[in-house]
Amino acid sequence: MRGSKTMTKGQHAGRRGAADASGRSPFVRLTELLAGISPGKAVINLSVGEPRHPIPAFVAPVLLEHNKLFGKYPMSRGTVRFREAAATWLGKRYKLSRALDPNSEVIVLNGSREGLFLAAIAARRYLGKQKSIVLLPNPFYAVYGAGAEIAGCEPIALPATRDRGFIPDYAAIPDDLFARAAVIFVCSPANPQGSVVPRSALENLVARARKHGALVFADECYSDIWLKDEAPAGVLEAAGKNFSGVVAFHSLSKRSSLPGLRCGFAAGDPAFLAAFMELRNVAAPQVPEPVQEVAVTAYGDETHVAENRRLYRAKFDLADRILGSRFNYRRPEGGFFLWLDVTKYNDDENATLEFWRKSGLRVVPGSYLALPTPDGNNPGAGYVRAALVDDLAITEEALYRLADIHG
Ligand SMILES: Cc1ncc(COP(=O)(O)O)c(C=O)c1O
Repeated sequence: MRGSKTMTKGQHAGRRGAADASGRSPFVRLTELLAGISPGKAVINLSVGEPRHPIPAFVAPVLLEHNKLFGKYPMSRGTVRFREAAATWLGKRYKLSRALDPNSEVIVLNGSREGLFLAAIAARRYLGKQKSIVLLPNPFYAVYGAGAEIAGCEPIALPATRDRGFIPDYAAIPDDLFARAAVIFVCSPANPQGSVVPRSALENLVARARKHGALVFADECYSDIWLKDEAPAGVLEAAGKNFSGVVAFHSLSKRSSLPGLRCGFAAGDPAFLAAFMELRNVAAPQVPEPVQEVAVTAYGDETHVAENRRLYRAKFDLADRILGSRFNYRRPEGGFFLWLDVTKYNDDENATLEFWRKSGLRVVPGSYLALPTPDGNNPGAGYVRAALVDDLAITEEALYRLADIHG
């Protein structure tokens, strides 16, 4: 990415690529790829980023205690108790310049996925038609592309390749692209590579986005799964005292191993959140109040989160030992994915088929998670993604199978 011309030409979605990467689920494509092919061993499903650690003990009692609230339509914005709990948690987790106002700067989400999707649509309505581009990291979580497409925006994907530490070169985004951008999606820690965007890069990005009237949407759902010494910085820290132009998306799915609870939140720019609520009031799924009560407890407790982190670290310790440098493996900074270099299998679909046929391992071809460019480059090609979401014993077995395949 050197200049506007190179970037626009090299990073536009090809027609088929846009349809595959933003319009269709990678998991549906994977099911089609493996259809009718028998697994070589008992299946270990490493494809979905669905934490399978124990459900925190407080979930059932809190639900039961607040059972009666299932009899109510929940308010779209979320309960006061929930918004206060989320704002308090943000203040503890991050080095913020000031506390967030739970009345205007936090809203509940039915998991972060729907929030990220609808926020792109709300952003286009909020900023106007001339803002016709959405910038995303490449590879990326599929919903960013789907949101861009439904918002009528052109997705422009910024390669996050190994040579750049798997982080897009935000500083190289040309001014003319920024000027047309409605939204810049940031994912840190990143799915799939586990890279973390440093605070200084977030600060620079926020400053430029503000200058050009673009919104920074930071997907921070892996914020509490950090595998090295330091907790990743967040976009709200980088925003300073004024959260304008910045929204952070959070979720209990990964932090608390509660992907089925469907609860998260968006926090930041109060003017955008007000516009977002205009859309959400008519279009978004509400979050049941007993679920929000579970979330109040979950955001008030770090013990179960530390235990989750300990388990992920133990699994990556196994990966360090069992994989070594096979597949060009390196321990990620955060998240729970292996991002394995499978260039020796010619392409990532071949590798996926071979892992399945020989070893019963279900992984996702990296090219399904990225936009190909018209020149034929897909930054996900040559990789497969494997989620370390099972317990230690299953994970160890999966890692030995991977090491065996590689030889
Ligand atoms: C990067 C990223 N963002 C958002 C989500 C959505 O999670 P949820 O809707 O469960 O909060 C996921 C789930 O896999 C993800 O990997």
